[in-house]
Amino acid sequence: MSLSFEGRVVLVTGAGGGLGKEYALAFAERGASVVVNDLGADTKGGGKSSAAADKVVEKIRAEGGKAVANYDSVEDGEKLIQAALDTFGRIDVVVNNAGILRDRSFARTSDLDWDLIHRVHLRGSFLVTRAAWNHMKKQKFGRIIMTASAAGIYGNFGQANYSAAKLGLLGLSNTLAIEGSKYNIHCNTIAPVAGSRLTETVMPPDLVAALKPEYVAPMVLWLCHEQCQENGGLFELGAGWIGKLRWERTQGCITRHKNQPMTPEAVRDQWDKVCDFTDSTKPTSVQESLQSIMTVLSKVESGQDVRASPTAGPATVASSSSGIDPMVAVGQKLPPSTFSFSHTQCILYALGVGMSTKDPDHLRFLYEGHPDFSCLPTFGVIPSQAAMMDGGLSAVPGLNIDFTQVLHGEQYLELYKTFPTSGSLTSQASIADVLDKGSGALILLDVNTYSGDELICFNQFSVFVVGAGGFGGKRTSEKAKALVLPPQRAPDAVLVDSTTRDQAALYRLSGDWNPLHIDPGFAAMGGFKAPILHGLCSFGFAARHVLKHFAGNDPSRFKAIKVRFVKPVMPGQSLQTEMWKEGSRVHIQCKVKETGDVVLSGAYVDLHETAQASAGVPQGGLQSELVFAEIGRRIQETGDDLVKKVNAVFGWEITKDGKNAAQWVIDLKNGSGALHPGPYAGKADVTFTVSDEDFMDVVLGKVNPQKAFFSGKLKIRGNVMLSQKLEIILKDHAKL
Ligand code: NAI
Repeated sequence: MSLSFEGRVVLVTGAGGGLGKEYALAFAERGASVVVNDLGADTKGGGKSSAAADKVVEKIRAEGGKAVANYDSVEDGEKLIQAALDTFGRIDVVVNNAGILRDRSFARTSDLDWDLIHRVHLRGSFLVTRAAWNHMKKQKFGRIIMTASAAGIYGNFGQANYSAAKLGLLGLSNTLAIEGSKYNIHCNTIAPVAGSRLTETVMPPDLVAALKPEYVAPMVLWLCHEQCQENGGLFELGAGWIGKLRWERTQGCITRHKNQPMTPEAVRDQWDKVCDFTDSTKPTSVQESLQSIMTVLSKVESGQDVRASPTAGPATVASSSSGIDPMVAVGQKLPPSTFSFSHTQCILYALGVGMSTKDPDHLRFLYEGHPDFSCLPTFGVIPSQAAMMDGGLSAVPGLNIDFTQVLHGEQYLELYKTFPTSGSLTSQASIADVLDKGSGALILLDVNTYSGDELICFNQFSVFVVGAGGFGGKRTSEKAKALVLPPQRAPDAVLVDSTTRDQAALYRLSGDWNPLHIDPGFAAMGGFKAPILHGLCSFGFAARHVLKHFAGNDPSRFKAIKVRFVKPVMPGQSLQTEMWKEGSRVHIQCKVKETGDVVLSGAYVDLHETAQASAGVPQGGLQSELVFAEIGRRIQETGDDLVKKVNAVFGWEITKDGKNAAQWVIDLKNGSGALHPGPYAGKADVTFTVSDEDFMDVVLGKVNPQKAFFSGKLKIRGNVMLSQKLEIILKDHAKL
């Protein structure tokens, strides 16, 4: 369907010649009633004549169109709009096009040169547009064009006055686009190039003839049509080509430390980083822009790396010769992987980590017909491994590493519900951080595993790449799940279990196919006498020892585990798990009994004090529950962006009748974000305490968060600055 302007009333300023004339003719040809405004001035703004506008009106009428002439200056904005209302009864489209030039080198620019240019271009467009604004608002339709210029966008010798006014129009348009959008008033800015009397002094005649105004007008018509939803855009166009422009911003860099003065030297020393457009962002609003500045405040407060950028999390310095570039790698996502399993895999895994029918209370993990048949909690590492095993890690940009040098350093696993005994799970892995440990690089890989929309577990793999350090990165990360040393006393309990000669051969069937654990030749290349047991197999042994001794083998009591892999274990050796119970945490250390070598250190298992529900969210009867469920869903949809924007963990304590009724964690810092029920193993950056009712009032917009805070209804612990970000979550992510 062709684009019709039947029934629309269009004002084109400066339409007596050049581009404006072309616009007027084109609108009229497509059925618009056109007010052809032109003062009939010379190019410098002098003189006055009705002839220019009249000729255009005559031409339109001769071709059967509707037009009326207006000879006022755009500085009399009201009069131009009145002409439209008097003649045609409404105003739908305003094309601010009138213009003059008073080019001078800057030193010679007089007050008059400056003022005249501003009066016609910037003030004229303001006055005409303001006169039309309320009419457009009332009719809930309006299309406005501002005419800027490449001279404004890029600067041009001898056009200081003109450039300033032209880019002023862009600022005006940016704000009108925001204020007008809810009334279907759209405002866009064009920087055209066309042969006209304004350009004939600077362009050769051939070019003036070739760059026809006809090659600009169709774009103006499109932007002004009701079908066009573009708003707040900036376009360069000419000769039939059209391109769109936007702002681009470097990741930038924080140049000050907590409690220290900011110095010009620090700015100088980080200058390359400030100006490095690698991984640049494209902010599109003041909110987005401010967001990063607010992030800086919290980052500096929390003492994070001074070289960190506000938007990209704690990434570090420039790229390295080793092929590791944290700036590129951190935040990268691996392709999602799916993992389908049945009771067979659960049983195979249980056998793999040494369970046996010799032990009657192991039967619930080994026999699918058992009334309490369950999957071992540490099976949670298996689906997430698939993402890495599929070679996902090797494809990550910025991680150009030698995979023969990769060691599994540490593992953290947290479950959010009891692990199912069958199903299809999806895992999403991302690079949480990359650290420079000198002798090697440490990659933190965060993996969230979902069943449908429900987050089942989170894994953090710490992968050490020998020889890949020294790229100038930071040594520690607040994203890393920390190890914890056991108490000094003798262990509260010790369990010993022997692995079999075939333990690794059995364990690998759960999905870790690395030949190091089966192939003697391969093991020898790695410097081992024989194939070694999987670290995650010892991990499984230790975890089930804790589960047996401190949780009666009830998998729903299992919450999280963290271990460091220190030394290899040979299949056939015995594993001795030493345990210390401290509240809900059981510290563990695992040794090879035969040699006394520590194989798992700094390790712990966190338990729930009571059994947890196996599905859904284990809290009940609260209105806020629905809202959190919705927040959880939305995080899954837009998590990545939110994590970038927010980069914080929010804890929630919801009270009912004065008692603690539920706890939630909105994690917008790790991986691609997640919602967890219950308390959080790590440290929340900020924790809110609020009653179920007051929470709903805030969410429903009855009370704003600041008010709730000042009236004592909302209590905040931790980094108070971060509560600013609450509104992003509640506004966009809690809509019911
Ligand atoms: P033009 O000189 O052919 O047209 C401008 C028209 O505005 C003239 O007819 C003039 O009488 C009228 N005018 C001047 N002051 C006025 C006032 N106070 N009230 C009402 N009308 C007034 O120039 P052209 O090239 O068609 O330019 C149109 C617009 O495009 C201008 O805003 C110009 O700055 C802009 N532009 C043009 C470029 C080009 O390559 N032609 C490049 C970049 C921007």
